[in-house]
Amino acid sequence: MEKIIIFDTTLRDGEQAPGGSLTDQEKLEVAFQLEKLGVDVIEAGFPIASPGDFKAVAKISKSIKKCAVCALARCLRPDIDAAYNATKAAKHPRLHIFLATSKIHLKYKFKKAEDEILRLAIDAVRLGRKLCHDIEFSPEDATRSEKDFLYRVIESVIKAGAKTINIPDTTGYTYPQEMYSLVDDIRNNVPNIDKAVIAVHCHDDLGMAVANSLSGILAGARQAHCTINGIGERAGNASLEEIVMAVKTRKDVFGGLYTDINTKEIFSTSRMISNLTDFVVPPNKAIVGRNAFSHESGIHQDAVLKKRITYEIMDPHDVGISSSQLILGKHSGRHAFNDRLKALGFCLNEEKLNKAFIRFKEIADKKKNIFDDDLRIIAEDEIRTIKPLWGLISFEVTSGTKINPRANVFLSKKGKVVSGISCGDGPVDAVFKAIDKITGYNARLDDFRLEAVTAGKDALGQVSLKLKIRNKIFSGRGASTDIIEAAIRAYLDAVNRLELK
Ligand code: KIV
Ligand code: ZN
Repeated sequence: MEKIIIFDTTLRDGEQAPGGSLTDQEKLEVAFQLEKLGVDVIEAGFPIASPGDFKAVAKISKSIKKCAVCALARCLRPDIDAAYNATKAAKHPRLHIFLATSKIHLKYKFKKAEDEILRLAIDAVRLGRKLCHDIEFSPEDATRSEKDFLYRVIESVIKAGAKTINIPDTTGYTYPQEMYSLVDDIRNNVPNIDKAVIAVHCHDDLGMAVANSLSGILAGARQAHCTINGIGERAGNASLEEIVMAVKTRKDVFGGLYTDINTKEIFSTSRMISNLTDFVVPPNKAIVGRNAFSHESGIHQDAVLKKRITYEIMDPHDVGISSSQLILGKHSGRHAFNDRLKALGFCLNEEKLNKAFIRFKEIADKKKNIFDDDLRIIAEDEIRTIKPLWGLISFEVTSGTKINPRANVFLSKKGKVVSGISCGDGPVDAVFKAIDKITGYNARLDDFRLEAVTAGKDALGQVSLKLKIRNKIFSGRGASTDIIEAAIRAYLDAVNRLELK
């Protein structure tokens, strides 16, 4: 059996997606979950990019013990020093150094000749290797690079000390047969390639990232770069859950290959990432979408009841999906609440557990039946919650077909109560305008979505929104049985994120 190394770049390439930015604490929570999921390498960030990125990578490096912690660097000394310093406390540090090798990048981005690029790559890998024994090198835009030059670069950086050679399809341009040939050609034309592991890093611009990654694996790549839910730059990266489940499900094709992923953690990891980044998972998304295992057609339902494999190629339990069940009510105690959260994969610290329990009681007072999906929202909200500057105390709204909607909102700020009154086009508009009056921000609402968490008229409503404030996007989430309250909570979540920056 040969292992496929899972290199998770959710916290680096995934976080590069617009609106996907996370706080340090959230990044750390994600890293712990990725460790639990069983990834081999966590690409934790690009430390030279900002002091915040550096701090987050350093924090993760200190805390993660099982996985390698990797940081990205260009072929520049300050980048490599920052990546080294941010990861030096890690049990298994790795530096990921990259430089573009395609003619397009050389001509328009660098205005440099091939020999200069080759020199830069060799010097950077040598420097990196002096600091860290585990160096990965990426010839960026490899799939659009001249093959002979690509072979020269790869051979040279392996000589300089790179242990992994990553083949990025940076622009999501290639297709499966082409990716297969590229990896195969590299294996046949780079004389020292047996001294390195070949990795693939595919983007999804043409919707082929997973197919291309799997083709690369079939041609001999033994490391896959991927992200949870496929998030990432532009159309995103290859999705971890799809690669892993393809290898696991199609043993006839990927015979002899395996990953160390604990697939039962896939669903909760997907939920966590969606919740923290506010990238909603489309219902038809493979493996983790809400409809991925539901059968609408009567013919399908009937056949699945007779024999599951007629229309289901995977068991939903294998990816950690359990059917939503009625479990707790307002009389349930703290113990039962915590036990159920643990069974759903949440381990909250004392403080967060206390807050989550108070919220559970508030919701249980309004909503008779509490389902697993409700509990997930309560726990995810707590994990997501940052030390808030602005808190909701109460609000009043009047609205109707014949009156002008009007809102009075009371917030807390550092122990003081502040309030604002506003009219609006509707009750939601009115509460948002009242909040803007209090905070002094003139926020633009860029996106607003409302979803019922479970079925039933008393279901929790979850609002996800994006605010543009001072030219930056901040996302927020909030849930309540009252959709106006859910909207206020989501709005404050986004504003509090701005205050944290
Ligand atoms: O897409 C890409 O080429 C990258 C590199 C930094 C590997 O993300
Ligand atoms: Zn990328």
